[in-house]
Amino acid sequence: MPSRLVGHVPVLLDDVVALLKPRDGGLYVDGTFGCGGYSKALLASAVCNVVAIDRDPHARGSAEKMKAGHGGRFDFIGGSFGAMDSHLRARGVNRVDGGIVLDLGVSSTQLDDASRGFSFRHDGPLDMRMETAGLDAKSFVNQASEKELAGVIRGYGEERRALSVARAIVAARKEQPISRTRELATIIRRVVKKSADGLDPATRTFQALRVHINNELDELASGLAAAE
Ligand SMILES: C[S@@+](CC[C@H](N)C(=O)[O-])C[C@H]1O[C@@H](n2cnc3c(N)ncnc32)[C@H](O)[C@@H]1O
Repeated sequence: MPSRLVGHVPVLLDDVVALLKPRDGGLYVDGTFGCGGYSKALLASAVCNVVAIDRDPHARGSAEKMKAGHGGRFDFIGGSFGAMDSHLRARGVNRVDGGIVLDLGVSSTQLDDASRGFSFRHDGPLDMRMETAGLDAKSFVNQASEKELAGVIRGYGEERRALSVARAIVAARKEQPISRTRELATIIRRVVKKSADGLDPATRTFQALRVHINNELDELASGLAAAE
């Protein structure tokens, strides 16, 4: 585990460095900067250059610190990796000769910040946007049709009780809008039983909503196409 890394503790760090084998002078893209664990490891492995991307404006603080520590070897782009082609071209980068790394999903820093609304463990506003702009989870949960809700919950969360969860959401929001993560988790727990492995019944639905709100699968498809 890298020392002095505050916030998210990246997994697979050693495997990523072993696979990429960073070399002096190479250019690497860290498409999911987060708290910078991958960028930091790449920069420490060789005298290489790293361009990092993150769509979450909160990542900029850590990126500025990394920039200060690595001078011209590190650059940060606020945006999504799905658009990395155009982001990189706008910086005059036409070829990435080292490699591209994506550490997908949500960071523990995002999960643990109740105000971001990603987690059923910490009560907060039902938000779930990595970019802090666009449609939030509250709008989707309160406005989508039962069919649309069930489709998202089944498709992105593989929740077998997706239709029951969607029905419970639609019934609950008739009483009052669902606006907090804990409210939503309580509604889900009424219709989904705890599984034998102890997984919280809200896990799959929360994952599905996060993937939908952040358009994560389309982002991945665009990111992979750009990386080819
Ligand atoms: C699992 S964390 C990465 C953690 C990072 N490897 C570290 O060491 O801290 C995922 C990060 O990717 C960002 N992210 C997710 N999807 C993204 C996308 N499509 N474009 C840019 N950033 C994205 C999130 O905002 C989050 O900060």
